[in-house]
Amino acid sequence: MSGGGSLIERDAAVIAANQKLRFFPASIVSASGSEVVDATGRRLLDLSAAWGANAVGHAHPKVVEAIRTASADGAGASVLSATNPRAVDLAERLLELVPAPAPAAGGFGSADRRVLLGHAGTDANHSALAAARAATGRRRVIAFHGGYHGGFGSAQAVSGVFVDGGLAGDPESALLDYPAASGDPVRDAASLERVFAAIAAEFAAGDVAAVIVESHQSDGGIVVPPDGFLRGLAARARAAGALIVCDEVKVGLGRTGLLHGFAHEGVLPDLVTFGKALGGGLPLSAVVGPAEVLDIAPASALLTTAGNAIAAASGRAVLDVIESEGLVAAAAERGEHLRRLLGEAAAGAPEIHDVRGRGLSLGIELRVGSTDPSAAPGAGDADFAKRVIYRTWQLGAICYLVRDNVIELTPPLALTAAQGERAVELIAAAIADVRRGAVSDAEIELYRGW
Ligand SMILES: Cc1ncc(COP(=O)(O)O)c(C=O)c1O
Repeated sequence: MSGGGSLIERDAAVIAANQKLRFFPASIVSASGSEVVDATGRRLLDLSAAWGANAVGHAHPKVVEAIRTASADGAGASVLSATNPRAVDLAERLLELVPAPAPAAGGFGSADRRVLLGHAGTDANHSALAAARAATGRRRVIAFHGGYHGGFGSAQAVSGVFVDGGLAGDPESALLDYPAASGDPVRDAASLERVFAAIAAEFAAGDVAAVIVESHQSDGGIVVPPDGFLRGLAARARAAGALIVCDEVKVGLGRTGLLHGFAHEGVLPDLVTFGKALGGGLPLSAVVGPAEVLDIAPASALLTTAGNAIAAASGRAVLDVIESEGLVAAAAERGEHLRRLLGEAAAGAPEIHDVRGRGLSLGIELRVGSTDPSAAPGAGDADFAKRVIYRTWQLGAICYLVRDNVIELTPPLALTAAQGERAVELIAAAIADVRRGAVSDAEIELYRGW
């Protein structure tokens, strides 16, 4: 290794800021399960799992073994111009795990389905939308404010998180409001009515190729929609001949307490995209959908190393571990546990304004300004939250922010009860410390986050 100084200083000197989203000077030099060790030798509890990518835990022995064997075999860098057994095996397993919808009015959705393999959620969503446009012969895409579908290119251009923040969006797309469950059935019915009216208006011209949607939003602030949103959306899309692309990159594969986030509403999307957890820490993504869509434009979605055997072997091992270790049920149980503990912590921490989510995709919304739930969070809330996650890191746990003032918890799905208790203790202690002024301006100055 070259260069003097700490790892953080060396990183600052060589790694481009364009690919950083930093909240504190974190580093990881080794990790196992739900714990990581940083460059100073500190052991930290990982409550993010690298934004969900390490859902089965760091260095899971079965994933390590699968990667080791596949790399030693040297069995194929790609499915581009030659196939390999590990990519085919992964695709076959994904098709078993993702139920097919009944054929739609537009004619899509035969039982004959395909898997398109990629490297990241961004390219999976790009490929899904491009295929939907090619298959329908239409250009328009409907997406939602607060959505996140990719960190660059066409998937970023339909991501509400970026477009709401000022990025020029895809001119052939529209962003609609994503409804949030309020707990009040009357308000929920009214917000569904509003969003369905907006959707009907968008579909009226008959030019919508696809609707891309998260089964609940993550980066938009952990927003769970009222029951009926996905069902109503899917029914309207099908009637209009548009395809539903459900982005399961962040919440899919067990995190919500069901294998698929969309299963909370009993909906079967036309196309489903996976990423993050699927790779077990390696770059791997997938689109699952009808052959009429994913076979429509041969040689139009090319990545040299897509379907490489090492990432595919890791993905297959991840799917096996989720099943054999009962991680879907574990996420549901630990999620309930964490919510209860956070509810108790809120009694002594008035800044905890709301705790929401599904399974182990949880958001803790912090407020220090207005307590009016209908008021938008202010800069003071975001500043407080920034200090709280900084302090949490100082105290021994990693978690990050979404939508400025919401702490997101997406820990490994096998987080133990004791680790869950420790997590809540650390966050509660951090809130109390920040209330007393523990984190200085100078400490957070370098970390702009989003
Ligand atoms: C819902 C969702 N979709 C897509 C992506 C993009 O995935 P990636 O960063 O792997 O390209 C993300 C990343 O946060 C995400 O949360």
